[in-house]
Amino acid sequence: MRVLGIESSCDETGIAIYDSEAGLLGHALYSQVDMHALYGGVVPELASRDHIRKAIPLIKDVMAQAGTAPGQIDAIAYTAGPGLAGALMVGACLARSLAWSWDIPALGVHHMEGHLLAPLLEDDAPAFPFVALLVSGGHTQLVDVQGVGQYTLLGESMDDAAGEAFDKTAKMMDLPYPGGPHIARLAMQGNEGRFVFPKPMTDRPGLDFSFSGLKTFARNTIEACRAESGLTEQDKADIARAFEIAVVETLVVKCKRALKETGHKRLVIAGGVSANKYLRSRLHEVMGGMGGKVYYPRPAFCTDNGAMIAFAGWLRLRAGQRDDVPVHIYPRWPMEQLEAVHG
Ligand code: KG4
Ligand code: ZN
Repeated sequence: MRVLGIESSCDETGIAIYDSEAGLLGHALYSQVDMHALYGGVVPELASRDHIRKAIPLIKDVMAQAGTAPGQIDAIAYTAGPGLAGALMVGACLARSLAWSWDIPALGVHHMEGHLLAPLLEDDAPAFPFVALLVSGGHTQLVDVQGVGQYTLLGESMDDAAGEAFDKTAKMMDLPYPGGPHIARLAMQGNEGRFVFPKPMTDRPGLDFSFSGLKTFARNTIEACRAESGLTEQDKADIARAFEIAVVETLVVKCKRALKETGHKRLVIAGGVSANKYLRSRLHEVMGGMGGKVYYPRPAFCTDNGAMIAFAGWLRLRAGQRDDVPVHIYPRWPMEQLEAVHG
């Protein structure tokens, strides 16, 4: 089965073609980041309009890259939620119109399920069951994964998502949007130990997260530096280092706890923040020490992309799932509501 995947939940138009025999045949991404950077964050209406402009040319590019004519596509998978309503609607309407005109099935896919299953696209794919740490711009969740669609939420953020905390802290230091990669780059030049940030909610039991206090701590530290001698590049690097350590160590503590609770030996990390090198190296160390293993997607598939949607869609389409007649999108959509896929 050959599946066209369309991702348009936020500020990236991602297109891919996945073939169940040959694997990934082509993928392309158009990022709207430069457009939104002017405003310091994503402007939903501009995002929707840009998806409209970019999606069809990108689909044509990917079909050429994949050597695929419309008649060779068997189904279309698109992101139906969670995400920005207008942006989701663009992808949903385009997918459903193409599927109707090509007379093939379409299926709306859960964006976070796409992230969660993305490591299965790699050669060294994890087997079920595993614990998944989903860390993106909108979500921070720990999930017990027994199979496709068999998800139990173990813990999640009570306030800001990890990626959002990176982005907001970066903005306070006048770094461009999205701030995660900029903080990570600066942190490499930072001195460890000059600032020590708290590790929120690690001193009490449970698997939930909270990152808003860390953001306030960052704001106070930045303001103290500004008042003292202006915020120097070294100050920024030292703050970035302390912030990154605090977020990563908090995630590490919770992952260890989730693995102990579930008894699983495999940990999957996915979503934009899973591209963070320090997080990956710390989890490698920790999992090695516990006799387990950490799995993650290649960097291009950590952040939003069409490949994860085509792939997650295929896993459900092959089990016979299809959209019914009305077009639905789900700007908020708990992953535990998804239908289990057996076998
Ligand atoms: O998964 P994603 O592309 O979009 C959402 O579904 O939200 O994640 C984007 C988030 C942003 O907050 C971005 O700053 C963060 O991932 N991010 C990173 C890194 N690369 C992207 N955060 C920390 N370190 C990175 N290297
Ligand atoms: Zn995402």
